[in-house]
Amino acid sequence: MKKLVVFNWKMNPSSFQKAKKLFDFSLKQSRKLSAHLSVVIAPPFVYLEHFFYLLNSKFKKEKGISLAAQNVSFKNEGSFTGEISAKMLKDIGVSYVIVGHSERRYLFGENDSLIAEKIKRAWENKITPILCVGEKKRSSFSSAWSFVRKQIEKDLVFLKKREKNLVIAYEPVWSIGGNKPVDSLRASLMIEKIKSFLKERFHLLLPVLYGGSVDCQKIDDFLKYSQIDGFLVGSASLSLREIKCLLTKVDNF
Ligand code: PGA
Repeated sequence: MKKLVVFNWKMNPSSFQKAKKLFDFSLKQSRKLSAHLSVVIAPPFVYLEHFFYLLNSKFKKEKGISLAAQNVSFKNEGSFTGEISAKMLKDIGVSYVIVGHSERRYLFGENDSLIAEKIKRAWENKITPILCVGEKKRSSFSSAWSFVRKQIEKDLVFLKKREKNLVIAYEPVWSIGGNKPVDSLRASLMIEKIKSFLKERFHLLLPVLYGGSVDCQKIDDFLKYSQIDGFLVGSASLSLREIKCLLTKVDNF
């Protein structure tokens, strides 16, 4: 399976100038990669359209990077102040959307039924959802798996057999945004569990990524496990040095 690296910039950087520098650099790096690795960048909404034009000029279509939104509305249009729909995202060339990220779940109170609706809107508009799941606290493998399984069951209630437009990211919440990644063997076992569950239940073979404190140093441990189809990277995706190093390592593995 092709590897996928998703850069989630979250609410960074603070100016368009800085965002463009980061994007241009990531684009330059992506041109050097083999066809086995795809790069997805999820910038804040306000930069998406500009980046789409950078990728699709009159003279050249860049293939190395796809765009993701960090959020999407559960509705397609109407009186929903502050919301942005999947239809609008599709219209400006967005290919993926991150749904169910723990920051949306726990800071903005998004529950599983809302997440399920958002995923449905993405499918209706031919956008691939990247569904984030993961246990909240450090716990035994079996209780973490039971938590993750329930999240998957609830978030994917609209999933039909043969729906291939879906990526899952396993992100133990306690491992996000710091220096505390989960043990790589445990992450790979959880990813294997998620894959076999999706296979049994829906007859689907889907890419499952790992996310949580991934940086250029820690990634070596995770790359050993072929079950891990790629990475969802937060903080490290804001550093030029890290971007270069991460992409080179994943590509050369
Ligand atoms: P992190 O974030 O790489 O900074 O831990 C990952 C994420 O929130 O998706």
